[in-house]
Amino acid sequence: MTNPLPFLAVLFVKLSILQIVSLCTTYLPQFDLSIQNRTSINKFDFPDANVLTVNLSHNQISNLSSDTFSSVTFVQSLDLSHNWITELSRDLLTFSHLVCLKISNNKLEQLPESFLQNQVFLEQLDLLHNNLESIPDKFFNGSLFELRVVNLSWNKLVIYQPWPLLLWKSVDFDLSYNKISTTANNLGKTKFTNSYASDITVNLQFNNFYQWNDSFYEDLFGEDKIVAEKIIFLMPDLRNNNWACDCNFFNIASVLHKSFYLYAKTDNLQFKCYNQSHLRDKSRGLTTMPRSLPIPDGRKLSLNFYGNSIRSLDNVEYADKIDSLNLSNNALQFIDGNALRRMNNVIKELDLGQNSLKYLPKEINVLPFETTHAEDNPLSCDCNMTWMADWVNLAPGYRDKSVQCTEVNGDRHLIKELTERLLNSVSVSLGVLLVIIIIVVITAKRCPYETKVILFKIFRIHPRDKYVVDSNDHDMNNDAYISYDASDIHVQQWTREVLVKKLEGNKPSFKLFVPERNLGSGSEAELRAEAMEKSKRIIILLSAHYSNTQWCQFECNAAESMSENQGRVLYILYDNMAVKLSKKEPWQSRMNERRALSPDDKLFWSKLRYELPLKCKA
Ligand SMILES: *[C@@H]1O[C@H](CO)[C@@H](O)[C@H](O)[C@H]1NC(C)=O
Ligand SMILES: *[C@@H]1O[C@H](CO)[C@@H](O)[C@H](O)[C@H]1NC(C)=O
Ligand SMILES: *[C@@H]1O[C@H](CO)[C@@H](O)[C@H](O)[C@H]1NC(C)=O
Ligand SMILES: *[C@@H]1O[C@H](CO)[C@@H](O)[C@H](O)[C@H]1NC(C)=O
Ligand SMILES: *[C@@H]1O[C@H](CO)[C@@H](O)[C@H](O)[C@H]1NC(C)=O
Ligand SMILES: *[C@@H]1O[C@H](CO)[C@@H](O)[C@H](O)[C@H]1NC(C)=O
Ligand SMILES: *[C@@H]1O[C@H](CO)[C@@H](O)[C@H](O)[C@H]1NC(C)=O
Repeated sequence: MTNPLPFLAVLFVKLSILQIVSLCTTYLPQFDLSIQNRTSINKFDFPDANVLTVNLSHNQISNLSSDTFSSVTFVQSLDLSHNWITELSRDLLTFSHLVCLKISNNKLEQLPESFLQNQVFLEQLDLLHNNLESIPDKFFNGSLFELRVVNLSWNKLVIYQPWPLLLWKSVDFDLSYNKISTTANNLGKTKFTNSYASDITVNLQFNNFYQWNDSFYEDLFGEDKIVAEKIIFLMPDLRNNNWACDCNFFNIASVLHKSFYLYAKTDNLQFKCYNQSHLRDKSRGLTTMPRSLPIPDGRKLSLNFYGNSIRSLDNVEYADKIDSLNLSNNALQFIDGNALRRMNNVIKELDLGQNSLKYLPKEINVLPFETTHAEDNPLSCDCNMTWMADWVNLAPGYRDKSVQCTEVNGDRHLIKELTERLLNSVSVSLGVLLVIIIIVVITAKRCPYETKVILFKIFRIHPRDKYVVDSNDHDMNNDAYISYDASDIHVQQWTREVLVKKLEGNKPSFKLFVPERNLGSGSEAELRAEAMEKSKRIIILLSAHYSNTQWCQFECNAAESMSENQGRVLYILYDNMAVKLSKKEPWQSRMNERRALSPDDKLFWSKLRYELPLKCKA
């Protein structure tokens, strides 16, 4: 089933990340009356009716009559911060081009409901350091199309309503340092309309949240049922609150951890709870894991003991009820293999990083390496650790495999390369070279393509004949156009967090065109076709529902009909479904004579780079 929402959203929310952030700059001419010890101001004080910036900050103004600004109608930036204002007149804003409004550090206790009516250009609103206890239901009305930053920190708000969902852009909503302990939704229908480029950041840190109530869930994420899927875009930052460790909390923690995607930003999900008695305020205090914890039947535990002084992972009573266990930055030296056996099949994530472990018990390989973290430990390269190489190598390609160990003589090795031969190879480097040569000769014969890729990776020798598309000097400014199913949240995350980051972030870096990110405004079909024409490669990321999406079909057909398309179109088979699809029509004929790579392939990234236009490494 395809879901039209992302498309609609793309149409509405064009590219907020690429827009130039202007926000609160000073627009000229300006009228600066800041730091003047003024106690009042009126409309006759404005000398120039055309001013764009009005700065009244750092005065002692306590009351502004509603006609104060009636003589200046073009104001774009208004700074009323650091005054003594207790009340705002609902008709105060008599101009409608306002971009930046600062009323921070005043004494506001409430806001008029329709204060921001018609402020369609407003981008930044600062209300921090006031005495606000609530926000009127209609304050954030649906016409605030441009609002990007709302700062309400350091007030006295007690309830959070999903205001950001009413806005149109990716928005930074700061509600930290209030007294919020609960959520509600009096705003009517709130639906999430954002997409790829748009992140909502809601900072709810340093509030008074104490007990999780499942009704928060609906309040926080609005009416939209499929929002649970998009939780990563909406996940409010609830850290640094005094969450109590009760059943409700464990439940939500496990819901969140289950819904969390491999590539998501996870910081916000790391909110901790505090057990009234033995866990609270004992940071760095724990030297052992609590022997028992109260867990109602059927619940799973998500435990974060980061930064304590725990010395061993013991076979605790609740070992087989742990969903995720974070023991990073402790003093671990010993791991009980029996605890690991009991964790098998239950635990989803185990973090043992930043500890003092020299050896890992072999039982740990009942847990997959991709969800087990053992980085930053003084692991020994010992013969009884060679099993680890297989454990590491079995993990899928996206997992970082750079975990290392140290030999007695101080040499460091990648564990994935640890073999008994390596450990005994102090003086056989010549032999190793010979082996490498033999391997190269054998693979060159058996796998000519792989050999070319390896030669390219190591020596930058590119033995392939150049594709026609590369030899002509067109004005093609993109190295590759990525065609993918943006409505599949996993594909979207993989594209954004893995593919794009690797190809753009590592050298030599490629210039990619990602439609959801780079498309300008205008006819979407034309823009896509034009961008494809200007791309030296078209990467088609085939995934389960790729062919059901309108743009993918469009792009696929366009790619086929493009001139000089030999070598220009290449496929990435995202998952097993894609591999299956590739063996059926129409994909089989489409891929005939084209390169189709799968992220599980050995040398996937090297192959991909090999296929992309040649770049100077510098
Ligand atoms: C404002 O008042 C302070 C203290 O009374 C004084 O030092 C300062 O000069 C005054 N500023 C102006 C612009 O009058
Ligand atoms: C207003 O003036 C104050 C003090 O001079 C300054 O710090 C502030 O940046 C100004 N505000 C704007 C919007 O320019
Ligand atoms: C502010 O001024 C208006 C009229 O200009 C007046 O009605 C109101 O009472 C004043 N408020 C305060 C708090 O002084
Ligand atoms: C809100 O204001 C506080 C205090 O100045 C600042 O630390 C914070 O970064 C601001 N939040 C946003 C979203 O700009
Ligand atoms: C959770 O919130 C709902 C709705 O606000 C309320 O009726 C219920 O009593 C709350 N439950 C707890 C345990 O606070
Ligand atoms: C464990 O907790 C620390 C601190 O909160 C965090 O930095 C780390 O990423 C966590 N580990 C995992 C695997 O989530
Ligand atoms: C591996 O061998 C070392 C001594 O060579 C020993 O101290 C360590 O306990 C052994 N580790 C395991 C997991 O058997």
